[in-house]
Amino acid sequence: MSEGFLKFPDGFVWGAATASYQIEGAHDADGRGESIWDRFSHTPGKVLNGDTGDVACDHYHRYREDVALMRELGLKAYRFSVAWPRVFPAGRGKLNPAGLDFYERLVDALLAVGIQPYVTLYHWDLPQALQDEGGWANRDTIYHFRDYAAEVGRRLGGRIKAWITHNEPWVVAFIGNLLGNHAPGLKDLRTAIQISHHLLVSHGEAVKALRQVLPGESQVGITLDLVPQYPVTDSEADKAATQRYDGFRNRWFLDPLFRGGYPQDMLDMFGELAPQTQPEDMKTIAQKIDFLGINSYTRNFVKHDPTVPVFQARWQEYWLGEEQIPGREYTDVGWEVFPHSLYQVIKRAGTEYGLQKLYVTENGAAFPDEVGPNGEVDDPKRVAYLKSYLAACHQAIQEGIGLKGYFVWSLMDNFEWALGYSKRFGIVYVDYPTQRRILKTSAKWYRQVIARNGFEV
Ligand code: FCB
Repeated sequence: MSEGFLKFPDGFVWGAATASYQIEGAHDADGRGESIWDRFSHTPGKVLNGDTGDVACDHYHRYREDVALMRELGLKAYRFSVAWPRVFPAGRGKLNPAGLDFYERLVDALLAVGIQPYVTLYHWDLPQALQDEGGWANRDTIYHFRDYAAEVGRRLGGRIKAWITHNEPWVVAFIGNLLGNHAPGLKDLRTAIQISHHLLVSHGEAVKALRQVLPGESQVGITLDLVPQYPVTDSEADKAATQRYDGFRNRWFLDPLFRGGYPQDMLDMFGELAPQTQPEDMKTIAQKIDFLGINSYTRNFVKHDPTVPVFQARWQEYWLGEEQIPGREYTDVGWEVFPHSLYQVIKRAGTEYGLQKLYVTENGAAFPDEVGPNGEVDDPKRVAYLKSYLAACHQAIQEGIGLKGYFVWSLMDNFEWALGYSKRFGIVYVDYPTQRRILKTSAKWYRQVIARNGFEV
């Protein structure tokens, strides 16, 4: 890393991100329906310590206080997600206007203090009623999602700076339906692959629907979780396995969105497990969009392993492997601190895929933060992490890549899916029993970064 002051381009969008199920709580307020995450978290053994999102950060009731915090930080933008079951409690059919009222209040509160709302339409809380009809494996869910997107678009319309159809479709499809660590907890490759296709088609349908109801200047995009893949050794077998895994993890989504088709090596690898498609699907998926959101935290290692069906490869990320490299630093969720990975994925999107407008829609780190005797939460490791990853963003921008903004994950500690409240990703500490918020050192540091549009390295 070079020394000096890293200045970001004028107008760079400094933001923070959250997601509905992770922070809102109020799981049965004002007519909200059940989501697959309510069902999953209430199923014994699915979430660490039996934690649920019933209360979470109680953001539904405390949004004013939270917007005031955002203002204190000087955030230019806030990325949140809309809970589909608040809007359509059964996923389709009868609209629940009270659910939309909440997001309207939130958006108005943000705009009143000059913070631009970036809205994600699907951050994993599918209405349970739709799951009961097959969820994303059922093609009809595509059209229910389109209708839901249009309804939110109509209500919030031009007040929203940018719309993100899906958050991390790879995670939705494969962690939820192949590994089973996330809701709905299925373990079936064929279903998961079909779901990945339906998610992509639903993205395209939602883009078309949003374009019809939104003013012309609205931006619509999608967020992918991109992860650079590394072979564990230099052997040809490990390198080939890495290539395959990259196809599955990254290209499986990038290629249909931006090149009009699934990667051939993946179709060959999946064979008869490849998704069932309809004639217009690939065109729908490849709808022109305005930006790509990238979530990125770490890299991943891949090993050739003939015992793994279809992939013949084993990958380290998530819960499949705990192997750590001696001397490297890892966060509290076991992800390696490797800032170059963020540079790599931004650069790849900008050069290999030629994308002109990118946002980092999530990046951050979990560490076991504690409130000190002075009542402060000092998190120097998170500050160091953010610094190094932001420096990686800066480098990509210097090289001409169109990275327009960065959203730290997360604004505040929250319900970290299968890991419940055990992992703290916030720059704001949440004391769950009292719901008190405390700015961590990283939040104060980030506030300065925003104010100066850069930082000292
Ligand atoms: C991402 C999710 C987000 C959060 C972070 C840590 O995969 O989009 O909700 O859980 O990981």
